[in-house]
Amino acid sequence: MLFKSVLCVAAATGSAWAAPAATESQAACNANLPIDNFAGFANKTNSLGAVTGDDKTMGAISVTGTTLSLTAKAGSYFYENLPCQDLAAPSGYNALSVKLGGPAQSSLLLEVQTKTSCNATAHESTYHNVTVPATAGVVSIPLSDFTGAKLAITTSLTFSTFNKTGVYTLSDLEFVCGK
Ligand SMILES: *[C@@H]1O[C@H](CO)[C@@H](O)[C@H](O)[C@H]1NC(C)=O
Ligand SMILES: *[C@@H]1O[C@H](CO)[C@@H](O)[C@H](O)[C@H]1NC(C)=O
Ligand SMILES: *[C@@H]1O[C@H](CO)[C@@H](O)[C@H](O)[C@H]1NC(C)=O
Ligand SMILES: *[C@@H]1O[C@H](CO)[C@@H](O)[C@H](O)[C@H]1NC(C)=O
Repeated sequence: MLFKSVLCVAAATGSAWAAPAATESQAACNANLPIDNFAGFANKTNSLGAVTGDDKTMGAISVTGTTLSLTAKAGSYFYENLPCQDLAAPSGYNALSVKLGGPAQSSLLLEVQTKTSCNATAHESTYHNVTVPATAGVVSIPLSDFTGAKLAITTSLTFSTFNKTGVYTLSDLEFVCGK
């Protein structure tokens, strides 16, 4: 996986764009959508029933209650796959919220992967640099910050490029409904 340490850069990894797939129009959200409460951590499954994990890239990884602890080192990443989640504006979701902790003055890169259709193999990645709060706290990242991302078919989130080694914690990971 190749990451660019650039704020909100879109990188097309697929070939030429196909016409956007017609998607069923869905009713707008009426509540926040929990992504992972880590109850299925042992089975690498998140709250949306999709695969999650670190591909053994972390120095250590564990869950206590509903909090994930990641001991990051060079090359570490952690991903949350999504079942073709519609996060485009009409969906009503407008932010990704996560309670985040980590070493002092650290940051990480959040990658959103999107596809032109659910069963496409190619994906496009858009990145966002997230500053970790001095004391663990809720960070809300507006989806509009992922400039140009085709969020109607979002297939994964990846946390990577932890800029300091050490323990990072993630909990209360959800998409915020802006109803
Ligand atoms: C995020 O931005 C900060 C401030 O510009 C920079 O110091 C840091 O290296 C960046 N981190 C990543 C992972 O790009
Ligand atoms: C994990 O999967 C096994 C086998 O399917 C199942 O028995 C177990 O209940 C699952 N555990 C969790 C925490 O989902
Ligand atoms: C990591 O990112 C933070 C937050 O942007 C920044 O203050 C710090 O200088 C960065 N540290 C390194 C080692 O790049
Ligand atoms: C999924 O792939 C099949 C062929 O394998 C194709 O016919 C179908 O249109 C694809 N679905 C979408 C939503 O693009």
